[in-house]
Amino acid sequence: MLQMDSGHLKRSSNSFRPSVLLLVTLLALFSGSIRIVNGEYISHSYQHNFTCVDWKRAPEAAVGNCTRYGRYGALRCYGGLNNLPTIPDLKVRRLEEIIFCGWPERVFNPLTDLQPFPRIRSLTIEHSDLREIAYDFPEMLYLQTINISWTNLSQINPRTFKRVHALRVVDLRWNQLVQLDGPLLLPRYFEKLYLAGNPWNCTRNFKWLLIPEKGAFIADREEIICADKKYKERNMMTVMGYKVLLRTECQSHVDLLNCSCTMHHIIPKTHIPLYTINCSNLQFQAMPSYIPANTTTLYLNNNEISDVLPLLDNPSYQNVVDVHLDNNRISSIDVLEGGYWFEHFRLLSLRGNKLQKIPVYALDNALDDNPNANLLLLSDNPWQCTCIFTLRFREILMKYIEIMRDANNITCVYKNSKPMRRANVLALTPQDVCKPEEEPKIYPLDLLNGVLAFLIVAILSKLAWDYYYYKNYGRVPWIVMKLP
Ligand SMILES: *[C@@H]1O[C@H](CO)[C@@H](O)[C@H](O)[C@H]1NC(C)=O
Ligand SMILES: *[C@@H]1O[C@H](CO)[C@@H](O)[C@H](O)[C@H]1NC(C)=O
Ligand SMILES: *[C@@H]1O[C@H](CO)[C@@H](O)[C@H](O)[C@H]1NC(C)=O
Ligand SMILES: *[C@@H]1O[C@H](CO)[C@@H](O)[C@H](O)[C@H]1NC(C)=O
Ligand SMILES: *[C@@H]1O[C@H](CO)[C@@H](O)[C@H](O)[C@H]1NC(C)=O
Ligand SMILES: *[C@@H]1O[C@H](CO)[C@@H](O)[C@H](O)[C@H]1NC(C)=O
Ligand SMILES: *[C@@H]1O[C@H](CO)[C@@H](O)[C@H](O)[C@H]1NC(C)=O
Ligand SMILES: *[C@@H]1O[C@H](CO)[C@@H](O)[C@H](O)[C@H]1NC(C)=O
Repeated sequence: MLQMDSGHLKRSSNSFRPSVLLLVTLLALFSGSIRIVNGEYISHSYQHNFTCVDWKRAPEAAVGNCTRYGRYGALRCYGGLNNLPTIPDLKVRRLEEIIFCGWPERVFNPLTDLQPFPRIRSLTIEHSDLREIAYDFPEMLYLQTINISWTNLSQINPRTFKRVHALRVVDLRWNQLVQLDGPLLLPRYFEKLYLAGNPWNCTRNFKWLLIPEKGAFIADREEIICADKKYKERNMMTVMGYKVLLRTECQSHVDLLNCSCTMHHIIPKTHIPLYTINCSNLQFQAMPSYIPANTTTLYLNNNEISDVLPLLDNPSYQNVVDVHLDNNRISSIDVLEGGYWFEHFRLLSLRGNKLQKIPVYALDNALDDNPNANLLLLSDNPWQCTCIFTLRFREILMKYIEIMRDANNITCVYKNSKPMRRANVLALTPQDVCKPEEEPKIYPLDLLNGVLAFLIVAILSKLAWDYYYYKNYGRVPWIVMKLP
């Protein structure tokens, strides 16, 4: 990278050996200059009110030249360091501050690129297409401030700055960082880390930010904003705070220990988190007795649950609007009738249970009163084929076909039928389901009705005849004469 004639600088990175470093360290300790770590370094760029914005307009930028300033303690380079060899080597080695406006490469290799500047205290790389820091920084004794901002840096190894012993401030704002694989390892005197302005992916794990000893360095925690699809524009601390809160909730309730608890959304503006709890396949015999606040979705598929009473009487279920209870042992949901939950749920899935009958009128009322109801799945249950229930059930299925989207798959079973006979409920007709069982009962009743109708007709005819006879002949019927 550095094409220089200077004898000192010609050496490759290999010469930057630990033994040399050790020597430098010892020398520094001897001369007492390591005390520098106790004194804050004041940047020349502040003193000179200098900025890299629009650096391409500087005349030096055309050729990638560096300029010394600040009584020659500082160097700023525009798009390269092509004239570095013209500066006496001794003076280069004494530089304390370097600003690279526009690093000429996509990769910055601290091992070789910083080698000419062993005494720098402040390093800035700004406004450049830098993508990657190739290696961790070597042992450096004076470097206190590293500012890499407005670049395309998209990843950083947590160990990158570990050996920069005097380091106090790292500014990584306005880059393209997406994630950090764990807390940055930082040296002893470290004070401030800036991370805002990067497109952080908060779906990734940043929970360590909340651990006091690891996250305390972060100086701009309120400004770190997420950029991933799920948490776009939410504050990272808010996101991580809820993640930790949810984890604590799920770990502190025995019923939820084996469930997976995740946040699926944070509502914009109000910042209310929404959680999903998945307790499927856990051989649960009952619904969990506690559900964390702000949970909206609960999966309890493939368990051995037979009772849905908690939906009615356990207040922690009140806002759990989506409940998946497929493949359990539920034989009745009658208890839900008239309850708050049944009139506010959004999704209830009860496929593969043991339901034979439900209170159809109650279901009708509940769905009628519940504007949120979006999906109710009831297929794969042993519904009974009976005249009254099944026909009304069929009516409800047709009325709410938009909600009961598996209605086409709902079948019923004829009682006492051998071999077992099934029918698709939507395809049933009254003849299918009413004739065979109820015809014998209706027969004697019909006979009685016929007899009674005949008698009424006979009596009325007799009355008409008597009236006619009386009018024409003045004779009252025989029975009237006999009456006292
Ligand atoms: C770049 O540096 C060289 C050597 O110091 C110098 O001769 C030249 O004038 C400089 N160019 C600009 C544009 O500053
Ligand atoms: C970062 O990369 C994008 C896309 O390659 C490019 O347009 C942009 O100029 C780069 N940023 C800088 C500061 O060079
Ligand atoms: C790093 O550089 C940017 C751009 O010049 C500046 O705004 C910021 O304040 C610097 N960071 C620190 C910690 O000095
Ligand atoms: C964020 O991370 C998640 C989980 O690793 C990944 O699925 C998703 O694609 C990432 N999103 C972005 C925008 O990088
Ligand atoms: C969680 O799983 C472990 C191991 O499978 C089991 O021993 C324990 O009883 C389970 N706890 C609950 C509450 O289901
Ligand atoms: C639920 O959300 C509210 C914000 O609306 C928040 O104050 C509360 O801590 C949350 N509770 C849980 C357990 O996440
Ligand atoms: C719930 O957890 C089970 C494993 O226990 C998994 O198979 C299933 O896909 C999960 N469901 C969802 C919606 O995450
Ligand atoms: C109905 O059942 C068939 C076969 O089991 C299945 O492929 C289909 O997805 C089901 N349809 C609905 C709406 O559940």
